[in-house]
Amino acid sequence: MRAIVHDSYGTAPEDVLRLEEVDKPTIADGEVLVRVRAASVDRGTWHVMAGLPYPIRVAGFGLRKPKYLNPGRSLAGTVEAVGQEVTGFQPGDEVFGICAGSFAEYVALRPDKLASMPSNLSFDQAAAVPISGLTALQAVRDHGAIEAGQKVLIVGASGGVGSFAVQIAKAYGAEVSGVCSTAKVDLVQALGADHVIDYTREDFADGQHRYDVILDIGGNRRLSHLRRVLTPRGRLVIVGGETEGRWLGGTDRQVRAQVLSLFVSQKLGTFVSSENAADLTALGQLIEAGQIKSVIDRTYPLSDVATAIRHLIDGQARGKIVITV
Ligand SMILES: NC(=O)c1ccc[n+]([C@@H]2O[C@H](COP(=O)([O-])OP(=O)(O)OC[C@H]3O[C@@H](n4cnc5c(N)ncnc54)[C@H](OP(=O)(O)O)[C@@H]3O)[C@@H](O)[C@H]2O)c1
Repeated sequence: MRAIVHDSYGTAPEDVLRLEEVDKPTIADGEVLVRVRAASVDRGTWHVMAGLPYPIRVAGFGLRKPKYLNPGRSLAGTVEAVGQEVTGFQPGDEVFGICAGSFAEYVALRPDKLASMPSNLSFDQAAAVPISGLTALQAVRDHGAIEAGQKVLIVGASGGVGSFAVQIAKAYGAEVSGVCSTAKVDLVQALGADHVIDYTREDFADGQHRYDVILDIGGNRRLSHLRRVLTPRGRLVIVGGETEGRWLGGTDRQVRAQVLSLFVSQKLGTFVSSENAADLTALGQLIEAGQIKSVIDRTYPLSDVATAIRHLIDGQARGKIVITV
């Protein structure tokens, strides 16, 4: 089968990723074989490819070189075969989920990160959902604990996670202000945000407005600036934010937030998304109910994964980038 492979870490996708013929995987008794029809790219894809920040290597992705064949993680496809111990899936089922190595024609995976594909989505649309959608759902529902009528600020509203977070927060009845760059203001408006703040022209932290919940997905603003526009008992959820740091990659701000949270009335925190089938199913229900949808910027063929990752890390993507397999 054809698959993207990388055998060393590197920051430039063009230097480390290659399309190769490799053996089709075989499955163990507890695994499912999926014919991948589409995969998607996210910031985590780049981190797994680059092995940065360094703690990601200790977290199971390989200390000196990549442990997994390729860095793709989100997928949608068709079940080809199931192991003897697998219940709940059978050949022919259309599924979406998270695995190690989704930039390939086939993948063998355990079914605990797999769910039935929403009936109203194409493979491309479904592949855009798993990691970004799960992260957005957990940020809004679990960590932001967003309730109807609350004022919510979403910093990084135009990207992979943000495009889902805006829609999910609206589905939960919040009044949403989305922060993004000029070229993406129209997108965030179309996602349903009540207010859109162009961070190149306006400072959302100037203290003019206060928010019950802030989801900081991409901003890297100082904690003091974010706290200034949070209500006295408000919640700040730091989802991410890219920095050049090879050791901490911006996570120092997340650690400081958690420590500070012990001493102030505001709740300041962060989380690592939990990859699980129950939340994929919950997302599928929101999608089938028409409350959220995938926003796809571009699709690329399997041979162009490096170009797709380059497009993302250059900050060009509006919503998600999908690889058609
Ligand atoms: N905690 C977790 O488990 C988890 C899971 C998934 C992802 N993440 C992290 O979440 C972050 C976002 O991931 P993603 O896939 O959504 O990335 P993405 O698609 O590249 O989106 C990045 C977002 O950040 C915005 N942004 C960039 N610079 C900004 C600035 N100076 N001020 C305000 N907004 C700015 C971008 O807006 P413009 O494009 O309009 O500039 C865009 O909306 C990454 O750091 C990723 O590692 C964390």
